[in-house]
Amino acid sequence: MKIAIPKEQRPDESRVAASPETVKKLINLGFEVAVEKGAGLGAAIPDEAYEKAGATIAADATVAFGSADVVAKVRRPLPEETKGLKSGTLVISIMDPFRAGDELKPLQEAGVTSFAMDLIPRITRAQSMDVLSSQSNLAGYKAVLDAAAVYGSAFPQRMPPPGTVPRARALVMGAGVAGLQAIATAKRLGAIVSATDVRPAAKEQVESLGGKFVAVEDEEFKQAETAGGYAKEMSDEYKKKQAALTAETIAKMDIVITTALIPGRPAPKLISKEMVESMKPGSVIVDLAVETGGNCELSEPGKVVDHNGVKIVGYVNVPSRLAADASALYARNIYNFIELLVDKEEKKLAVNWEDQIVAETCVIRDGKLVHPALGGEIETPKEEAPAEPAAEEEKSDDSSDGQGG
Ligand code: NAI
Repeated sequence: MKIAIPKEQRPDESRVAASPETVKKLINLGFEVAVEKGAGLGAAIPDEAYEKAGATIAADATVAFGSADVVAKVRRPLPEETKGLKSGTLVISIMDPFRAGDELKPLQEAGVTSFAMDLIPRITRAQSMDVLSSQSNLAGYKAVLDAAAVYGSAFPQRMPPPGTVPRARALVMGAGVAGLQAIATAKRLGAIVSATDVRPAAKEQVESLGGKFVAVEDEEFKQAETAGGYAKEMSDEYKKKQAALTAETIAKMDIVITTALIPGRPAPKLISKEMVESMKPGSVIVDLAVETGGNCELSEPGKVVDHNGVKIVGYVNVPSRLAADASALYARNIYNFIELLVDKEEKKLAVNWEDQIVAETCVIRDGKLVHPALGGEIETPKEEAPAEPAAEEEKSDDSSDGQGG
């Protein structure tokens, strides 16, 4: 079995799909590993580290792809990256398939089988492959640091001789994986933190991190979580009530981190222009949902917008801004997924198409679009129960920093 790890070609992408640690594990699994020259540099992994782990360094992607049975990438291949792919290759990446548009066609034409790591189901068995969690966790942390870098003041209360400087007030909108990490990080930095979500399960998690939960808790709220653990699109009536509560809350905030997403749909608009205008000059909004339309009406991808002194940060691909950690975690997610596709005794690929994880992540099979949400057809095996939400790590982390309330 041969696996290729190409250098990512998208301009905002510094991550890489393998680490020296996972190269060793892939070799133990029976793979020959080819890493494209310079693939790890953005994540501070030199070619020599891969070589030391047992990989060969390929001069370019075409050389790496030429004989590969598996290609592991961070992002969906660009049309020009599909050129060297041979038919039947398993291509594994974060595909973002619902926003891929015409970029799925070249993969179909190449006759490959393509898996989307971002469609890994949220079941217990798949937790170690869950890239949305591993990457969102880092994004939530970095979003707070990005806010702190742009904010013209400090987060904690200070009492130097001339007088007291108050603590910053932070609001986190969307308390999923990124939001919970943002709450923990903002508290560690010394802010007073509130958070909102539409899923009732979020309330206890926010409170366990010492945040104040602010939400419209009506009958619709009680039903807002899907079986998969995600949020539903809320009704217009709920959105109106939520907007009124947000308007009231946001005017008092110095920092707002938004992370609200609905799978397969544009991000919900939670902060209007008027709400931005109600905030104090110097306040900062970081919109982590900017790439899927944004939670704030005024955020722009890749920019820091200044609106009457309120700064709205719209950095794209935030996990890539912590490329070393993001790559190390992503590489493990990828390895755990690949392990599922291999017969360990025979040391050969043995894809079980009946497996729920395989079936739900497969977007293209031998050149044919198969995912039902994209118009293809798959037989979805019986679903396993969703995993318990994972807030434990943050709970213990945060309780050790001595910053209650
Ligand atoms: P996500 O990235 O899809 O969305 C982020 C957050 O935005 C979610 O908490 C969602 O409820 C919230 N949201 C959506 N619409 C909103 C609105 N209009 N207003 C306010 N908030 C809104 O979600 P993420 O971070 O992927 O987590 C979703 C759930 O899955 C969580 O319960 C999480 O703990 C759970 N989970 C389970 C895993 C597993 O079992 N393997 C792994 C990771 C997360």
